[in-house]
Amino acid sequence: MSTALTTPNDAPAVADRADASPAVRIAGVHKSFGRPGTAVPVLDDITLDVAPGEFLCLLGASGCGKSTLLNLVAGLDQPTAGSIEVPGGRPALMFQEHALFPWLTAGKNIELALRLNGVPRAERKPEAERLLELVRLGGSYGKRVHELSGGMRQRVAMARALAQGSSVLLMDEPFAALDAITRDVLHEEITRIWQERRLTVLFVTHNVREAVRLAQRVVLLSSRPGRVAREWQIDLPQPRRIESACVADLSVEITEHLRGEIRRHGQH
Ligand SMILES: Nc1ncnc2c1ncn2[C@@H]1O[C@H](COP(=O)(O)OP(=O)(O)O)[C@@H](O)[C@H]1O
Ligand SMILES: [Mg+2]
Repeated sequence: MSTALTTPNDAPAVADRADASPAVRIAGVHKSFGRPGTAVPVLDDITLDVAPGEFLCLLGASGCGKSTLLNLVAGLDQPTAGSIEVPGGRPALMFQEHALFPWLTAGKNIELALRLNGVPRAERKPEAERLLELVRLGGSYGKRVHELSGGMRQRVAMARALAQGSSVLLMDEPFAALDAITRDVLHEEITRIWQERRLTVLFVTHNVREAVRLAQRVVLLSSRPGRVAREWQIDLPQPRRIESACVADLSVEITEHLRGEIRRHGQH
């Protein structure tokens, strides 16, 4: 299945988006690690635009360069060649490990991000409380990290990412360490928040079903080096259910391609 940039069942937005400049523009990006001569290419000529308001999943086997690409988009590292533009400014980030400060409460972790984002002191507490409400943790402002379950910690991490004030959210396997039911619930939450806040989401996963459950577009990366192998436009309505037949059918098709990529590169 080959694809256009925008979502056909999202008709009014399509016209806007086709004209709008991308929220993320990745152009001819190469990345190698190591010294010249012995450098290992990890990413090879990645060109990819993410439209404003799009939910894009970057899918690929472990070690194919997904985190490397996300780190480049986040500005944490520089490409060896090519360019990355995020016209709206520095994106917000969320990782598999919640990376909350254990000596701060849930609320204070969020306030710290608000402070770094330049939110005036007097507005920080009410805004942190609003963000906790948004991730359905109202009343947990004073809880410390050790008092929260894995799912609750990722909710706080989501609120903290939103406190960074960017409309572009980069997520690196944020739910990979959670049990299936908790992950399922958090898929609902991120879908809702993406829609409510009109975020642009670039979501990295090695989990095909998760990608099909969440994304408007799935981009499959090959391995060694990472290249864009194929992409799928997912026009199923949201919210979707991970166990639904249409998600399962498309997952089977995409898994075949992912397996093909893994076989081709002699991994696993
Ligand atoms: N800072 C680094 N120095 C050297 N090699 C790295 C570095 N970061 C990542 N790599 C290598 O790049 C490849 C891709 O890694 P990564 O982007 O983490 O993959 P993924 O997130 O898809 O699992 C791996 O082979 C990894 O060992
Ligand atoms: Mg990774």
